[in-house]
Amino acid sequence: MSGSLKYLVTGASGQLGALAIDALLETVPASEVGALVRRAEAAAPLEAKGVTVRVASYDDPAALETAFAGVERLLLVSSSEVGQRAAQHANAIAAAKAAGVGFVAYTSILKADNSPLTVLPGEHVATEQTLAASGLHYALLRNGWYTENYTMGVPMALEHGGMIGAAGEGRISSAARADYAAAAAAVLTGDLPASGTVYELAGDTSYTLAEFAAALSELSGKPVGYTNMSPEAFAGALVGAGLPAPLAEMLADSEAGASQGGLFSEDGTLSRLIGRPTTPWRETLKAAL
Ligand SMILES: NC(=O)c1ccc[n+]([C@@H]2O[C@H](COP(=O)([O-])OP(=O)(O)OC[C@H]3O[C@@H](n4cnc5c(N)ncnc54)[C@H](OP(=O)(O)O)[C@@H]3O)[C@@H](O)[C@H]2O)c1
Repeated sequence: MSGSLKYLVTGASGQLGALAIDALLETVPASEVGALVRRAEAAAPLEAKGVTVRVASYDDPAALETAFAGVERLLLVSSSEVGQRAAQHANAIAAAKAAGVGFVAYTSILKADNSPLTVLPGEHVATEQTLAASGLHYALLRNGWYTENYTMGVPMALEHGGMIGAAGEGRISSAARADYAAAAAAVLTGDLPASGTVYELAGDTSYTLAEFAAALSELSGKPVGYTNMSPEAFAGALVGAGLPAPLAEMLADSEAGASQGGLFSEDGTLSRLIGRPTTPWRETLKAAL
């Protein structure tokens, strides 16, 4: 695991990380791009793209430091292990510092330090603070919701003829994962921003969940209604459907936060960064159908 690498993307076996690799490969040669995975068996599809694969878990500080050796610019994709992320990201940041990484872009959450969501932002805020204290040159990609968070529920919504949620009249400015990946690649490959620069990233257009259900009805030709519930009732329904309680509570909290505008933004930074409008949510919905 030695040699210099201009760019390294963590979480590269995941959906956002893989798209960020693809976005980088649109403008830079594969020889400059590295992919970090925690499972060696996840390497093959990335190696097929011609990028260098390095292996380390966020739980393994020594392996992280080895994996970050010779890296100039790092995209630190937040871990999916909610509850362990502050410590995992702190490991990654310490390793980046020890390895002499020149720039770190971290995928945080929209309005991290000023969000009505109460569960998800905490670990992101902790990571943002760790980065600020690290002395590393860094930027924060505060990603809003993926449109795919809702389109993945389409089969179930069609089966049941309805969607449930707790977002009320809250508008959701989601964008496609690929849009956030393109933004990450743009920040990584561009002139480095001042350290600590914050990008609040969200889709150009927004919707309520009732509007989303109406669009699903229209596009699928099947009636799909939206039932708004209290966060408690929504969490209960998710547990009843088989979700683990902590996940159900996190989703209910996120919807409650969305009802207070936590997932809404009109600031347009995402489309400015990627140099095009964000993918319309109806287009992502159509593709999911
Ligand atoms: N903005 C949003 O709407 C939204 C929605 C969901 C999640 N997120 C956040 O954004 C991140 C990227 O989203 P995504 O859709 O790409 O998620 P994803 O497909 O679940 O990918 C998560 C990635 O994190 C890696 N990972 C997890 N634990 C790790 C560890 N201990 N050490 C090293 N790598 C580890 C996973 O590796 P494996 O393949 O080995 O599991 C995977 O590559 C998520 O992890 C989460 O923090 C944002």
